[in-house]
Amino acid sequence: MATITINGEAREVSADPSMPLLWVLRDVLGLTGTKYGCGIAQCGACTVHLDGTPVRSCSVPLSAVGSKRVTTIEGLSPDGTDAVQQAWVELQVPQCGYCQSGQIMSAVALITAKPNPTDADIDQAMNGNICRCGTYQRIRAAIHRAAEIKRG
Ligand code: FES
Ligand code: FES
Repeated sequence: MATITINGEAREVSADPSMPLLWVLRDVLGLTGTKYGCGIAQCGACTVHLDGTPVRSCSVPLSAVGSKRVTTIEGLSPDGTDAVQQAWVELQVPQCGYCQSGQIMSAVALITAKPNPTDADIDQAMNGNICRCGTYQRIRAAIHRAAEIKRG
C-alpha cells in the first residue's frame, strides 16, 4: 500500500510499485482524463505534473512518485477555468480531443515557468506532445492567449 498526493488529496493505492503511474491514475483511481497513447514516453498523451513538472506518466513507476504532488487534468481547476482551459475553449483547439489533456498539462507548466513565452519557447516545450489531428497552430495561438489571460 502506498499513499500518494493526487490533486491535493492523499490517496491510498494498493498496486505493484512497478505499475506505471498512468495505470494507477486510470485503472486504480478512475482518473481517466489522462490518456494512453504509446506507453513509451514518445507521444505526451499521458502527461501529468509531478511537483509542477510535466512528466510522462506511462513511464513513471508508482515507486518513483513518493511524496511528490501529482496533478492531473482533473485537478487543474475545480470548474475547468484554468487560463489554459479557458483559452482552449475560446480558440476551439481540440479536434478528436485524444491528445489534449496532455497538451494542456504541458502548456500549463510552460506558462507557469514562462509567463510570456515566444513561439520558440512554445515549440520547444510542446515538442514531445504529438497531435495526430494536427492542431499545432491552434495550440500555439491558445498558449499565447492563455498567457495573456493569466497576466490579466
Ligand atoms: S502514453 Fe505516455 S508518452 Fe505516450
Ligand atoms: S486533437 Fe486529435 S490527436 Fe490531437
